[in-house]
Amino acid sequence: MTEGMTLGIETSCDDTGVCVLRGQREELASRIAGQNADHAPFGGVVPERASRRHQEVLLPLLQEVFAEAGVNNPARELDLIAVTAGPGLMGSLLTGVMCAKGLAQAWELPLIGVNHLEGHIFANVTAFPELTPPFLSLIASGGHTELVLVRALGDYRVLGRTRDDAVGEAYDKVAKLLDLDYPGGPEVDRLAGSGDPGSFAFPVPMKNSDEIAFSFSGLKTAVLWVVRACRQAGADLPGADICAAFQHAAVSALLAKIRLAARRTGVSRVAVSGGVAANSELRRRMALLDDLETYLPPRGLCTDNATMIAAAGYSAWRRGVRSDLSLAPDPSLPLPLL
Ligand code: KG4
Ligand code: ZN
Repeated sequence: MTEGMTLGIETSCDDTGVCVLRGQREELASRIAGQNADHAPFGGVVPERASRRHQEVLLPLLQEVFAEAGVNNPARELDLIAVTAGPGLMGSLLTGVMCAKGLAQAWELPLIGVNHLEGHIFANVTAFPELTPPFLSLIASGGHTELVLVRALGDYRVLGRTRDDAVGEAYDKVAKLLDLDYPGGPEVDRLAGSGDPGSFAFPVPMKNSDEIAFSFSGLKTAVLWVVRACRQAGADLPGADICAAFQHAAVSALLAKIRLAARRTGVSRVAVSGGVAANSELRRRMALLDDLETYLPPRGLCTDNATMIAAAGYSAWRRGVRSDLSLAPDPSLPLPLL
C-alpha cells in the first residue's frame, strides 16, 4: 500500500495550523500562524478575535503548504483531510471544520474529525517510530492536564486529570501575577533559569495523595500570597526566584504522578506532550527518570500544530474511521474511548 497523503488542519484555540503529511510521519510542509500579538493586549485569548484571525489566514496558509509540498492537484494527490473537531473554542473550531468539510466535499476526499487530545498523543507517535503501545501519555497544555494509558492506537484510558487549573494555565496565571509578557509559560520558564528553586517552599500539589490526579490552583494561590506580601512590604519582587520555586513544585507534581501511574499500570514507556512539554525543567528532569523510557517531542510538536492532527487522522483512517459531512465541532469533545 502506498503511503497516504493527509491534509491536516488545526484551529482549536489561537494557532492556525496546516500541514501535508505523507504516511505516519513524513512532514512535507507545515505552517503555524500564531496570534500572540492579537491577544497580548488582553492578557489571554479573546475567542472572537481568534476565530476571525483563523478565517483570515487559513486559506492563504493552505496555498503556501501546497506550494511547498508540491501538491498541484489536491483532489488527486491527497488521500484524506483531518481536522480538529474538539475540544477547543467553538468559534475557532468552526472555522477549521467548515473549511475541511467544504474541501472534502469539493475534492471528494474522506474526512476525519480528530480529537485535539488524541492529536497531542500523536505528536510523540509521529516523532518516534519506536514508540508503540502500551505507553503512558501525559498531555500537559493550557487547557488540559491528563494522564492517559494508550493501550493501542485509538484505545485510550484516562487514568487521571486535573481537578481545577491545567498546568499551562497555572503557568500563565503566575506570569500574569508577575506582570510578565504574554504568553506567560515560556516567560516563566526563561526567568526560572536564573532563579533559585529553594528560595520559596511552595507546596507540591497532591504530593501525599495516592490518587492519579492533579491540582494547580492551590500552588497558584501560594504564589499570589508571596507576591502580595512583597508588594505590601514595598520590596522588589524576586521574580526569577518565584518562577524557579513555582516551576520546581509544578514539575515535581507532574513527575510524581507519572511515577505513580507507571507503578500502578506496570507500563514504563512514558510520553509527554502539549505546550508544557516544551518546558526546560520538565525536559531536563524527565531525562533523569532512569527506570522509565521517556519521550518528549521536539518543541515545535509540543505546542498546537497541524502535524499531530494529520498524524492522528491518518492512523484513524488506516483503522477505518471516517467522519461525514455532518461532522460538528464539539468544544468539550472527550477522548475517544473504546
Ligand atoms: O498545547 P498548547 O499549545 O495549547 C493548548 O492546547 O492549550 O499549550 C499552550 C500552553 C500555554 O499555557 C503555555 O503557557 C504553555 O503551554 N507553555 C509552556 C511553555 N511553552 C508553552 N509552559 C511552560 N514552559 C514552557 N516552555
Ligand atoms: Zn493543545
